[in-house]
Amino acid sequence: MRIIVTGGAGFIGSALVRHLIGTGHQVLTIDALTYAGNRASLRDVEANPRHQFLHADISDRAAMDAAIAQFRPHRVMHLAAESHVDRSITRAADFIQTNVVGTFTLLEAARAFWSMLGAAEQAAFRFLHVSTDEVYGSLGETGLFAEDTPYDPSSPYSASKAASDHLAKAWFRTYGLPVIVSNCSNNYGPYHFPEKLIPLTILGALSGRELPLYGKGENIRDWLYVDDHARALDLIAQAGRIGETYNVGGRNERRNIDVVRRICAVLDELVPANAPHDRLIRFVSDRPGHDARYAIDATRLETELGWRAAENFDTGIEKTVRWYLDNEWWWRPLRDSYDGRRLGLVAAAD
Ligand code: NAD
Ligand code: DAU
Repeated sequence: MRIIVTGGAGFIGSALVRHLIGTGHQVLTIDALTYAGNRASLRDVEANPRHQFLHADISDRAAMDAAIAQFRPHRVMHLAAESHVDRSITRAADFIQTNVVGTFTLLEAARAFWSMLGAAEQAAFRFLHVSTDEVYGSLGETGLFAEDTPYDPSSPYSASKAASDHLAKAWFRTYGLPVIVSNCSNNYGPYHFPEKLIPLTILGALSGRELPLYGKGENIRDWLYVDDHARALDLIAQAGRIGETYNVGGRNERRNIDVVRRICAVLDELVPANAPHDRLIRFVSDRPGHDARYAIDATRLETELGWRAAENFDTGIEKTVRWYLDNEWWWRPLRDSYDGRRLGLVAAAD
């Protein structure tokens, strides 16, 4: 198949591109190479003749029209986004522009192409809109997010993703564009930009920096190894029902404090000279609007499509820590543009 992946130079996008190239597809990666986009993350596929890269912004309608007309995709997998909650708190404009306006632009470009196809090609075409469990808001101590959980986003990031999900669904209902939406929990693994909790903790601990935990460190996230997500996305695009939502999650809920302690314990074994790493943990002021708990019910994906996560948190986190130890070539240059400083605090009103 010919598949367009937007955001393919990012964390999840690059894992997806590696998976799709590895399973024999032809891929056009479209990416604007923001601070989070990195061609080094595509090093494994760069020389493959089935992979092409286009440096373009999804909000650029002419560029999207030209790319789609030339590549003639069977499938568009849309991951390009501004993805970091803390950055959305201090500068929401980029999130509205890319996540909302960019998604709208891409949907329109895809629709223009799709509407010119013959009936059989139209029926086979898929637009997978990749989204987040954060659109559902925050859970209490019990319960899980299901596909019919009402949307209740808390941050500018999650509100912009919620808006884009609604646009994608509307393009199916109104125009018949064969859209599917996936909503996934927190990913972790190789090539994760070190602003997010797990890579920030690994690299901070390696360089002896303090490890910040927001609030009491008791907020809960449901962690999924990134390659499990990539496989799920391929399966959903292949076999999911159009117009539907699929939740993706590995049933690996952890409190943030336990995530950070586990990383420290793995590092104590692998880099014993600096043990104990958990002496670096510091509790800092909370994230504004911090959601208490996320947890995904992935029953639909498991029963309809037969997906299962291959990694559990303990196996996945050990692989991840080892990857960062072995791949300084990838992360060292990023530390020059972002050094791990605190992001996402709201300035006092007075
Ligand atoms: P990321 O920030 O690592 O990567 C985003 C990529 O999109 C980057 O390569 C960036 O250059 C590109 N991009 C940004 N704006 C663009 C634009 N206007 N045009 C073209 N490219 C642009 O993000 P990620 O963590 O890989 O997330 C990918 C997608 O998955 C996002 O849509 C995100 O909302 C969703 N998601 C992420 C997680 C997670 O835990 N990271 C979980 C569920 C869903
Ligand atoms: O749930 C899916 C979402 O997961 C994705 O949609 C987002 O793109 C992705 O960034 C992620 O959002 P989170 O806000 O959950 O991830 P983050 O790594 O920023 O934070 C994870 C938890 O750790 C959260 O409760 C905040 C906390 N945290 C984060 C940082 C950066 C800290 O305690 N200290 C920190 O320094």
